[in-house]
Amino acid sequence: MKYPFLFSILYVISIYLAFFQAQAIQLDINDDDSVRNAVSSMTGELMNYWNGSDYKFVASYWWVTGASMTALLNNDILFGNNTYTDLVSESLLYNAGSDHDYQPSDEYFNLGNDDQGIWGTAAMDAAELDLKQVKSSTASWLELSQAAFNRMSGRWDNVNCEGGLRWQAFPWLSGYSYKSSISNGLLFQLAARLARFTHESSYEDWVHRVWDWSTSSGFVNETDFSVYDGSSVATNCTDIDHSQWSYNLGVYMTGAAYMYNHTQGSDLWKNRLDGFISHAISSFTKDGVAWDPQCETSNTCNIDQTAFKGILMQSFGNAIRLAPYTRNKLYPLIKTSAPAAALACSGGYSGSSCGVHWSWNNGTWDGTYGVGQQFSALEAVQMLYVDKYPSIVTLSSSSDNRSNATYASDNSSTKNYEVNVPPATEADRGGAGFLTFLSAFLLLGASVWAIIEDEEGNIPSRIHRSSSQKDEKDENVMNV
Ligand SMILES: *[C@@H]1O[C@H](CO)[C@@H](O)[C@H](O)[C@H]1NC(C)=O
Ligand SMILES: *[C@@H]1O[C@H](CO)[C@@H](O)[C@H](O)[C@H]1NC(C)=O
Ligand SMILES: *[C@@H]1O[C@H](CO)[C@@H](O)[C@H](O)[C@H]1NC(C)=O
Ligand SMILES: *[C@@H]1O[C@H](CO)[C@@H](O)[C@H](O)[C@H]1NC(C)=O
Ligand SMILES: *[C@@H]1O[C@H](CO)[C@@H](O)[C@H](O)[C@H]1NC(C)=O
Ligand SMILES: *[C@@H]1O[C@H](CO)[C@@H](O)[C@H](O)[C@H]1NC(C)=O
Ligand SMILES: *[C@@H]1O[C@H](CO)[C@@H](O)[C@H](O)[C@H]1NC(C)=O
Ligand SMILES: *[C@@H]1O[C@H](CO)[C@@H](O)[C@H](O)[C@H]1NC(C)=O
Ligand SMILES: *[C@@H]1O[C@H](CO)[C@@H](O)[C@H](O)[C@H]1NC(C)=O
Repeated sequence: MKYPFLFSILYVISIYLAFFQAQAIQLDINDDDSVRNAVSSMTGELMNYWNGSDYKFVASYWWVTGASMTALLNNDILFGNNTYTDLVSESLLYNAGSDHDYQPSDEYFNLGNDDQGIWGTAAMDAAELDLKQVKSSTASWLELSQAAFNRMSGRWDNVNCEGGLRWQAFPWLSGYSYKSSISNGLLFQLAARLARFTHESSYEDWVHRVWDWSTSSGFVNETDFSVYDGSSVATNCTDIDHSQWSYNLGVYMTGAAYMYNHTQGSDLWKNRLDGFISHAISSFTKDGVAWDPQCETSNTCNIDQTAFKGILMQSFGNAIRLAPYTRNKLYPLIKTSAPAAALACSGGYSGSSCGVHWSWNNGTWDGTYGVGQQFSALEAVQMLYVDKYPSIVTLSSSSDNRSNATYASDNSSTKNYEVNVPPATEADRGGAGFLTFLSAFLLLGASVWAIIEDEEGNIPSRIHRSSSQKDEKDENVMNV
């Protein structure tokens, strides 16, 4: 360990904090004031991690900021508030990058198809809720989403595994050798939402292409609607990692709900949606409270995994919005998950930092902090107000009718496959990371440090999340 002195100070502070835990958030789901107070305390703590200079949360991954933009937008929509509207609008534009495609230059050494997909769906939320652009952009929300979709679908790979998207986007990333459900599920969901919004049949073709591959590859089991994590390209996708995560299922569930709605309630999509809902109930809830058993039972949830239940809660909300008949199955789960999530929020200075574990439901905080935890608990509580969503607009009812199905579809350009910037060296990254870490620590008064595990104090690069390769780090080096 390079910084023993600092770490011993942090250790002392952590013990100090442990003794100053305030009350957990007591949530009375039938009392509007209680719900608003819980939400306000959760968003307040989340915003402690906000960096207004680069429109991202510190100490987490880029995709979690994208997912949190949906959460903050939900906050304003569901509670009739415009606290975060401008911030979300600015962040959605800033993070799209100069080509408006959610491939900003600072993500070249990290970009996952899933990251881009999450941001694409956040832009789609803005389009569907008819969010005003605070500074009018040359691209509409829809076009940002179309651009992300075009970049992703341009990387569809028929050479290996007879189709499918790889996890990460570029050959110089270690996740390029892995095909993941999250990347394919988000491509499927984006296609479904674009199909519903624009009524262009090309998107529906993609819905079927991704769905058919997801089931034929064995990533989605059409018998019991398990969604397995993925498989390596080297084996032609024959060695599927069967670990199951709530967010993999969640992104497919949302896509199925949009297709159910888009097809005016077809049996085909109803059956698939019902399948995902049954599986979510059997695998990702315990006594009605959402959980991710794969990491929660072993207490090993990493930074990515702390945000998974937030995506699951969003999928419950999306299913209820787009397929109202699912409400009688899903709303009871929201009613039991929300107070459990709130009770898990009793950490840190504020006494309202949220932990990962909700399902033990005994009013204890599990000692972890982070953007992912805040985001997940916030969505659990906000979905109590799912009935307050306005109806979702389409292109013809939107106040911004700009649409371009070929936006950023130039997949032969350098944007997709080549970058001329040399990768940062290990030393550079360690040093910069440590400074970031230190300033974040000073800025946030210690509420961030606990999730930062790397011995040099930098936030680890994204970790391959399959169970078999859990500790394999993405070293972000050129391996081509
Ligand atoms: C708007 O949200 C903020 C932060 O969540 C909260 O403090 C404020 O009370 C809310 N205002 C209204 C009118 O609900
Ligand atoms: C790029 O797009 C063209 C036309 O859509 C397609 O034929 C080609 O396979 C794509 N290339 C790659 C590398 O995905
Ligand atoms: C799909 O699910 C069914 C029912 O749980 C199970 O019997 C079958 O083995 C699963 N298929 C695969 C390929 O895992
Ligand atoms: C991958 O599997 C498919 C279907 O089983 C097969 O047609 C193809 O030749 C295999 N490719 C490689 C590189 O093994
Ligand atoms: C589609 O979604 C709208 C809400 O945006 C809802 O009112 C409508 O009932 C849904 N359609 C079906 C078939 O459930
Ligand atoms: C809360 O519940 C969990 C799981 O049952 C248990 O491990 C933990 O000790 C409990 N904590 C308290 C303070 O009761
Ligand atoms: C888009 O909106 C503009 C301004 O409201 C209008 O002039 C134009 O006709 C619309 N285009 C389409 C294709 O509806
Ligand atoms: C749509 O996007 C393509 C590719 O970025 C661009 O060449 C074209 O001019 C755009 N079309 C419109 C109508 O903006
Ligand atoms: C906030 O963003 C700015 C601009 O990108 C960056 O220089 C700074 O390091 C960030 N702060 C933290 C704490 O990450």
